Amino acid sequence: MTTTRVLFVCLGNICRSPAAEGVFVHLLAQQGLGDRFVVDSAGTGGWHVGRRADERMRAAAARRGITLTSRARQIDLTDLHSFDHILTMDGDNLAAVQSLAHEAGNPAGQARIEAMTRYCRRHTGALEVPDPYYGGPQGFEQVLDLLEDACGGLLETLAPKS
Ligand code: 4NP
Repeated sequence: MTTTRVLFVCLGNICRSPAAEGVFVHLLAQQGLGDRFVVDSAGTGGWHVGRRADERMRAAAARRGITLTSRARQIDLTDLHSFDHILTMDGDNLAAVQSLAHEAGNPAGQARIEAMTRYCRRHTGALEVPDPYYGGPQGFEQVLDLLEDACGGLLETLAPKS
């Protein structure tokens, strides 16, 4: 059985990408697919390294039955080879990861680097998962709405039901 390795990336790795990781892992558990995937998250910035996910993000996820367990870390070059898929939350994250891949001397890398919102099935007009950090509670709900949608689409693509 092959293992698919998925890395979610945002800026600080304390709000959006930990939520993406938690939502995706939750979905895998629901569908009995946990042993077919390795799932992680990282930030393009290093300010919050070692911290748990933002309390507001954890609380919003917990209200939907999802536990966020990650500790923040910063993406590095090895991630481009350790993961099959890297999903970014906004245009800045996408540009930063693409630039890292370019720096590595291999623009394609091993990982396929894409915007997470590509996989939305209901929020089809969404181009990014907006940064909720400086906003109000609604921003965290919007992050989860988008991520539940996109994680469903991503899983359908990576593990299609026959
Ligand atoms: P994230 O949110 O990228 O979704 O983790 C942010 C967290 C922290 C900051 C910005 C965005 N910050 O500026 O510290």
